[in-house]
Amino acid sequence: MSDFKVKFLPAEVSIEADEGVSLLEVARRAGYVMQSECGGQGTCRRCKVKLVSGDVFLTGEPNISSAEREQNLTLACLARIVEDIIIEVPDESELTFAKDEFKPQWLPGEHPGDELHTFALKVDPLLQCLSITVPKATLQNNSSDFDRLCSTLEREGCKRPFKADISILKGLSSALREDNGFLNVQTVRIGNTTEICSLDTTEERPLYGLALDIGTTTVFGRLIDLSSGEVAAESSEYNRQIPCGGDIIHRIIYAGNEKGLNELNQLVLDTIGSIFGNLISEVDATEDQVVASVVAGNATMEHLFLGMNPKSIREDPYVPTVTEFPLLQAGDVNMPQMPHSAPMFLSPAVASYVGGDITAGLLAAGIHKSDQLTLYIDLGTNGEVVLGNREWLTACACSAGPAFEGSGVRCGMRALPGSIDAVVRDLDSGGLTYNVIGGGTPRGICGSGLIDLLAELHATEIVDARGKLQQEKDGRIRKANRKAEMVLFDKVQTGGAEDIVITDVDLDNLVRTKGAIFAGIMTLLKGVGLQASEIERVVIAGGFGRTLNIENAIRIGMLPDLPRDRFEYIGNGSLRGAGLALLSRKMWGELHQIAKMITYFELSTWPGYMDEYMAALFLPHTDAALFPSVL
Ligand code: FES
Repeated sequence: MSDFKVKFLPAEVSIEADEGVSLLEVARRAGYVMQSECGGQGTCRRCKVKLVSGDVFLTGEPNISSAEREQNLTLACLARIVEDIIIEVPDESELTFAKDEFKPQWLPGEHPGDELHTFALKVDPLLQCLSITVPKATLQNNSSDFDRLCSTLEREGCKRPFKADISILKGLSSALREDNGFLNVQTVRIGNTTEICSLDTTEERPLYGLALDIGTTTVFGRLIDLSSGEVAAESSEYNRQIPCGGDIIHRIIYAGNEKGLNELNQLVLDTIGSIFGNLISEVDATEDQVVASVVAGNATMEHLFLGMNPKSIREDPYVPTVTEFPLLQAGDVNMPQMPHSAPMFLSPAVASYVGGDITAGLLAAGIHKSDQLTLYIDLGTNGEVVLGNREWLTACACSAGPAFEGSGVRCGMRALPGSIDAVVRDLDSGGLTYNVIGGGTPRGICGSGLIDLLAELHATEIVDARGKLQQEKDGRIRKANRKAEMVLFDKVQTGGAEDIVITDVDLDNLVRTKGAIFAGIMTLLKGVGLQASEIERVVIAGGFGRTLNIENAIRIGMLPDLPRDRFEYIGNGSLRGAGLALLSRKMWGELHQIAKMITYFELSTWPGYMDEYMAALFLPHTDAALFPSVL
């Protein structure tokens, strides 16, 4: 029996909680996915809730304005339960799905095998599914059930030696005698051995593989028919780990707390379990029809998925526990819904900050097969950058920070309903027009909107080349706490608790972020003795890239100034790569070759990186010759 009742409005959800538990934790248990980028440290201001009745004990001074205090707002992570309480969760504190944010890359019925065709490959899944009839034992052929099974599989093209675990052997005798030797058998080749993963006697029915991309923010799952290669269903959800920290570093810190690692592991499994449920119900399949999976994610996500402590990833010399993962079974990672014996393949990582999501994305982009010098950029918290072609690949992770995901920016937010995702300047009047996701009044501004805004404010000289607001240039710029800020929308217009502003501190963060990405690109180029102009193809991956205005990204000096037709957007490269590996043993092999091909540049110690970074802290750059079309 818990101590107190907590009621959440407007959903009218009630939950019991013990004294001293944080409101953030209670909200999570009540099913809310709260914004909480700092992982409950009281610094990001994202977890605001309104006290409707009752009181809380605060473990620190909440960083909120006097106007917010007057509205009885507080930070859920600092508030502890001391009595029965009713709270209201404002829209902006809860993560909700944007209409287009998680649009499938392929629609059900479409054929991702088309991608295999572009690589001149056919569907040849990692897990082979065969329907066979094993001859009966006779006095003349009195070899064991297992030997007859192996001989039949060999006739079907499988290679010896075969191996099966004891649970398979225990069921073999009865399965063989149930339907005159008819069996559905699934095998996977591991090294020089063919492993028999499962067998059953049910009638032929579709068998599916699960491709998973475990992102720090969002987890995507795709169910793929293993015989046709069609995407049967796609589903995605916010990673339920978010309340434990918005980015990788906060998750790693959280994993160091007592029970933190188990909690993070369980939360990501819960997220995947929910996605899995959606997928199989969409195709009206049973759990045991999903017979294999390929999982891709950044190194920290892959560690947490396996329940491994990622601590060493953020400690000098920044190494993960493992980059190449052994073949697992669903039961090894406590995937509750999938058959225990279903094989699970994890995409190999390269280093702590260049993970299996990047290798999978490179596979999907086909860079390792191309003669073209290609730049691959995954725009997320770290901004991973890869440069190369079929002969060589180099990679680095830019410590860009999460500014383009809305973190560290006063009115920043993710690309959710209510966020400004595009800013356009009228060339005659100079006035700015804002596009708000979902329409209506804005609640904040997301990464693509921030890039547009920075580009336009610089073009109109409202910010200077260092990204500083020029107060004399615009009447909407004011001083607050001795720092300049520009009002984009006042609270009367939006009905919010505060004005929507962009501050000098925000702009500084944005300039640092774009500078880190461009410096990473230049470091890779110089490391191999090439010029930016020699890049023949630029592939942008990651959810943020969907709304990115390439022109503006070049104008602020984040992307190299190249002919615009060299840029392309690949979408969720990690998920696409996982799907391709699932469908093709050849692609799975190539995925490992990619990981081995990559030379990793550790930028924190790379000679010359800091010089590149300092040079990139201007709009667009200190070296104007690098941006001939901008100036
Ligand atoms: S301020 Fe509460 S989670 Fe960041």
